[in-house]
Amino acid sequence: MTAPFPLSTSRLTLRLYKPDDLTALLGYYSQPQVARYLLDEPWTRPFAEQQVQKRLQRQGLDTPAGALAVVWEVQGEVIGDAALWLTDDTGKVAEIGWVLHPDFAGQGFATEAVGALLNVAFEGYSLHRVAAQMDARNLASGKLCERLGMKKEAYLRQNWWSKGEWTDTVIYAVLAADRRESPAEHEASNPAARMDTVYEKKSSDPSEAATQLGFEALRVSD
Ligand SMILES: CC(C)(COP(=O)(O)OP(=O)(O)OC[C@H]1O[C@@H](n2cnc3c(N)ncnc32)[C@H](O)[C@@H]1OP(=O)(O)O)[C@@H](O)C(=O)NCCC(=O)NCCS
Repeated sequence: MTAPFPLSTSRLTLRLYKPDDLTALLGYYSQPQVARYLLDEPWTRPFAEQQVQKRLQRQGLDTPAGALAVVWEVQGEVIGDAALWLTDDTGKVAEIGWVLHPDFAGQGFATEAVGALLNVAFEGYSLHRVAAQMDARNLASGKLCERLGMKKEAYLRQNWWSKGEWTDTVIYAVLAADRRESPAEHEASNPAARMDTVYEKKSSDPSEAATQLGFEALRVSD
């Protein structure tokens, strides 16, 4: 599939990473409140350089990286980012993660961006299932999943050692079949992000993509 980026929603532009996104990302990932439920500590500049370098390679699920990383801009300013990455060798099952600059919270921007990325996942890549894993205390992420029609599937007790303590994990997921059965649920959450584009699916070897996933991380991609 040719990556459908930049992709416009009603208020946002989603696009692949550029090297100079580093400063904008550092602006929010360096904040302790953002890092609280992420795997990493608040970013430093050297760490940000490594992360952006990795994310620049994640240009599509059907590329060797088996992953797609995008930033979201509002009026030319990067305010958040999200990623999709394959998690098995069918090439049809993926995980999704997201981060929003806290200055832009509470306005539905994350819902709009992640909804658009789910449309890419299901309509562009014809995925079967997309899941999200998060710290059970991350209520804002749980609400985001629910707004987007993802179902809460599991609550894992103290399965993850994070930042000096055992933490609980919640797993949400949505299937292609859920979206066919309840199209209004995801369209209502993000009507402007529906994609009318017809994608040309390039042949790819899903097992190759999956085995090259050296970055898989529970809960959220780094
Ligand atoms: C998770 C995260 C993205 C959620 O941010 P958010 O601001 O709650 O999400 P949205 O931008 O979609 O905004 C939704 C809120 O805006 C409100 N809102 C206003 N206008 C809206 C609109 N047009 N559409 C949807 N919601 C809207 C919603 O009611 C909701 O408010 P509520 O939580 O009080 O009900 C953010 O907290 C974050 O980045 N956290 C740190 C990183 C992180 O933990 N990532 C996840 C790892 S798994």
